[in-house]
Parts: sequence; structure tokens; C-alpha cells
Amino acid sequence: MILTDDEQRMRDGADGPATAAAMDLLVRYGEALDAERLCTVRNVAGTTTQPSPVKARLVAEGGWDRAFSIINLDADETLPIPPMAVPTCQLQQGFGPDSVGTVPYPEEFVQLQSGGEAFMGARGVSVLATCTPYQVGNLPVRGEHCAWMESSAVVYANSVLGARTNCEGGASTGAASLTGRIPCWGNHHDEQRRGTHLVRATTPVASFRDWGLLGYFVGDVVQEARPVVTGDLALPDLTDLKHFGAAAASSGGVEMYHVPGVTPEAPTVEAAFGGGRVPDAVVFGEAEKRAAYARLNDQGSDEDVDFVLLGCPHASLDQIRDIARALDGRRLAAGTELWVMAPRALAAVAERSGHTAVIEAAGGRVLTDSCPAMSRTAPVGTRTFATDSAKQAHYLPAILGIGAWFGTTAECVDAAVTGRWRGELR
Ligand code: F3S
Repeated sequence: MILTDDEQRMRDGADGPATAAAMDLLVRYGEALDAERLCTVRNVAGTTTQPSPVKARLVAEGGWDRAFSIINLDADETLPIPPMAVPTCQLQQGFGPDSVGTVPYPEEFVQLQSGGEAFMGARGVSVLATCTPYQVGNLPVRGEHCAWMESSAVVYANSVLGARTNCEGGASTGAASLTGRIPCWGNHHDEQRRGTHLVRATTPVASFRDWGLLGYFVGDVVQEARPVVTGDLALPDLTDLKHFGAAAASSGGVEMYHVPGVTPEAPTVEAAFGGGRVPDAVVFGEAEKRAAYARLNDQGSDEDVDFVLLGCPHASLDQIRDIARALDGRRLAAGTELWVMAPRALAAVAERSGHTAVIEAAGGRVLTDSCPAMSRTAPVGTRTFATDSAKQAHYLPAILGIGAWFGTTAECVDAAVTGRWRGELR
């Protein structure tokens, strides 16, 4: 791997031992990937504060310097961690103090995380605490090289924003935040961003649920390749694209897609394929839509619903407002809980706008920082949950061993109010 003079200087220890360890990690990582050089990045989205038993032990042994050194720098010893060299944000993490009493999450983890936030905040990290940093001010420009974690955020950054990032991990983002570098491979290169598959919708894709179903289908078909999606598509909004990408990154490993005329690197179908051959289309018709719906509901058998989860990826303000409207004047069924996961910054706006009061008056909660899949927690005694998120319907049954129903936001709110699942694909 070719290093610039500045990168070699960092590797030799000019900026201290933690930065040297970070550069050493990036060189080992880059060589394993056959990357020839490092990209300069000025936007890192990673996770350091997320609690775990291992982290609790490391912090007890040597504080957050030790936890960061071992977990985020792959070092053998405790190194003093300096301020981050480039703008860095904390993605989703565990639940925070305001969830105590609602979420059955270990209080020792809540306290551990608070200590981590103080440590990382003092080193310049913005504790956005959301899987959707792009909803709360972290918006890289088109063409900007980044180092982001979180599959749903990565696919959004590449596809919707036109930024360039691979799906990084805790160690590579930790190293990137101290050096402003990341191996230059994969999605950082023009030729790795061009479409590989053409998908044509012959059935209308016109709602938030439809975009989730289309994403779930597409991910299954292309796996880690790059779909170009055309056909009977209503103009999506950013919330639809958030759902589409998260679904495609769940059933497959999609990190980049194009919707010609909508996403920035695909003014036309031909441009999406970089001027190369346009392949024959894979069809998303009524049968494929029904098959995707059936797959997302194959963990549902008991129509009694005791938990409704909305906001995966974390809800937009429009979603929170729509949930409040659907709940206005209603009351959750006894024994049923409803959680809306949201970025903390948007939760503050939702509260100020009165949406949170409506949701709470019905018996629901707007929660921040985390989600059931990330924190492996749900209301005590949950047997079956309902969600409007393809990603949560895909993952949560396996993580928590519970049944799942997938449908529209309105169907989920109705399930919370009646305690019964009545969703169907009409
Ligand atoms: Fe976010 Fe959790 Fe979904 S981290 S993308 S709400 S699985």
C-alpha cells in the first residue's frame, strides 16, 4: 500500500501512539483488501459507546482509553486516546436514561454508556445516537469519501446522497476518526458504483410499504450487487428511500442502488450502468410483491399482538406525525405496547410539536438512541410483534425468538389499539 508522507508520519508515531496504531490498522486492513492507497475522509460515522459485557470489562480494567484501544484500534495495550482528527458521529447505541422504566434494559449498561458519551464527547464526537445521521444534520456532499458503519445508513449515503463509503466496522471507523483516512476500495471507485442488475416494477410501487417490499425483493435477487430500479414507481420521498435501502440491505447486502431520475448518479438508465450494456430486466410484478410480503410474514402465526414497533430505520418527523395522527383520541389495548424509535434530535422536535403528547396519551412511547434489534430487548413477555419495517421483521424474530407481522403503519397502529393483527396485502 502506498502511503503519503503525512500518512507515513502518522504511522511512525508523530501524532502519538493511538494514531500510529490507527494507521497501522488501516494499512493491515487495506492490504487485506488489495487497496493501493487510502482515501482522505472528513466524515466518520461509527460506534464506540454501545455497551456490551466485553466493553464493561475493559472499561473496568482501564477506562474508556482501554476500551477504545482494544475494540476500536485493535491494539494490544491501553493507549491514551486523543481528540478525533476529523468530524465523527456516534451512530445508534444502547438505550439511555430516559428509557428506564419503559425498556427492560440493564441499568448498568445505561450508566456505562453515559460514561462513554462523556469520554467520546470530550474528544469531539457528536453523539447523534441514531442509525439515520443523515436525518439530523450529517449530510456529506456528493462524491465525498466517508467512513460509515450501519448498513441502512451506508446504502442511503451511497445511493441517495451520492457520498462514497463501504460498510465499515467499529475498528476501521475508530481508526478513520483518528487519522482521517480509510482504505480506498469498493464503493470509493467509480466503476464499483455502476449498476449491475436492472429491476422493473410492473406492479405499482406507491406507498411506504411497497418500497419496503420492493427493497426486500431486490436485496434477495441481487445480494451484494447494485440494482437499477425502474418501472411503475411513484416518486419516492426520502422516507420511502430510507425504507427501501434498509430492506435491500437486510435480505441482501445492497450498499448502492440507483433509481433513474431520482438518485444523483443516475439521471438515466444508461447513465446508471455507466454507458455499458443494459442487462435484461428482472421483473417485480404482483406475484413477486406477494412473495416478498409472505416471506416477511412467515414468522407470524398468532394474531394476538403484544408489541408494535415503528421507526426502523429511526423515524422521520413525518412518520412520527403520521403515527400521532393515527393514534389521536385512541388508546392502546391492555397488554399491548407501542414504541416509536426516533433520532433524539427529531424526538425533541416531535415533543415540541405536540406529536409525542398524542402518542403518549394513547399509551405509546417515542424512544431514542437504540432499537429492539440493536439492544436485544422488547417489552417483557412479548410473544408477537407487529412492525412497518421490513428490516425489523427480518431480524427481530431470530434475535428475540418472537413472532412477527409486517404491514402498513396504519395496520400496525390498529394492531396496537385492538391487540389483534388484521393486516393484509390488498
Ligand atoms: Fe436502526 Fe435498529 Fe433499524 S439501529 S436501522 S432501528 S435495526
